Amino acid sequence: MVRKMSDRTLGQQSQDTERPARALRPRTLEEFVGQGGVKKRLRIYIEAAKSRGEPLDHVLLLSPPGLGKTTLAHIVAQAMEASIKVSSGPAIERPGDLAAILTRLSPGDILFIDEIHRLRRPVEEVLYPAMEDYKLDIVLGEGPHARSIRLDLAPFTLIGATTREGLLTSPLRDRFEVTFRMSFYTAEELALIVTRGAHRLGVEAAEDGAWELASRARGTPRIALRLLRRARDVAQVEGAPCVDRELARRTLDILGIDEQGLDSADRNLLRVLLERFGGGPVGLETLAAALGEDKETILEVYEPYLITRGFIRRTPQGRVATDRARTHLGQAPPGLL
Ligand SMILES: Nc1ncnc2c1ncn2[C@@H]1O[C@H](COP(=O)(O)OP(=O)(O)OP(=O)(O)O)[C@@H](O)[C@H]1O
Ligand SMILES: [Mg+2]
Repeated sequence: MVRKMSDRTLGQQSQDTERPARALRPRTLEEFVGQGGVKKRLRIYIEAAKSRGEPLDHVLLLSPPGLGKTTLAHIVAQAMEASIKVSSGPAIERPGDLAAILTRLSPGDILFIDEIHRLRRPVEEVLYPAMEDYKLDIVLGEGPHARSIRLDLAPFTLIGATTREGLLTSPLRDRFEVTFRMSFYTAEELALIVTRGAHRLGVEAAEDGAWELASRARGTPRIALRLLRRARDVAQVEGAPCVDRELARRTLDILGIDEQGLDSADRNLLRVLLERFGGGPVGLETLAAALGEDKETILEVYEPYLITRGFIRRTPQGRVATDRARTHLGQAPPGLL
């Protein structure tokens, strides 16, 4: 559900970008732009685990959508020379489904579970001994005659990814030895991602064009690459030789993305917050109802960037629009009214 919601908000990403996204995915840590601290630590842990001949410790990846969690999981597998099995929280419905996945792992394999916060509790409980001791507890029979047997599992690495750290249970979080929190990318980093992406897509991006797209991509590689594809469409239709600043601006205008990288849905949220609720504070439930949006989408997709850029603040009483939001929408701050 959350996935569908963010897909819609981020613009048909699954049909539109998932397939080509694979072609644009960096394959090594060297190619993975930005997240310097994460890469530095990963390199050490990978080298140490490899020299001990052991699997990497379990890794938890936390970030808003589109910042590179899935990409990083595949890069880690490649660097460990391990094979990777991919699943996700909602796809593993019953404890038996997870048991089947775990018993098929070979020594050193990586199991990537996306949206791990959406694992159901009985499924999650199967993971605890698997993560801690590479053991699987199987309960035979029911009621007073039930007994449990322990099976050995191959030593493996679990990489869990989530956009919603707050929804992880603490027993699960505690069993990850390594946690990486990924942050929004700088415009410089995104410009590099756009330039490399352009190269792979076979389109020329001028420096100023790449910069224009990068600076309006909400700090998010997936969005930067999507803007690049739209710019490529415009270039193709116009017969333009390359994506320069003017062409990038025309593309962004067509998409309704303003100079702060906000789209019409972001601006609508700010407008509702300011005009219907006097700038807040307003509770998440009320805001979601007023927008006709899902709470999860507001939390996961809109807010992280709006908060990072200082357009809204989260307070114990609810969401508050800042003066920056007022100025951005062309409204005077309250003191001047
Ligand atoms: N650091 C990076 N350098 C280059 N490209 C990147 C980087 N991070 C992400 N990308 C690209 O951005 C796109 C989205 O990345 P990815 O799918 O890994 O994000 P995600 O965090 O798994 O998102 P979600 O939370 O929606 O699952 C991919 O096409 C990927 O290649
Ligand atoms: Mg992903």
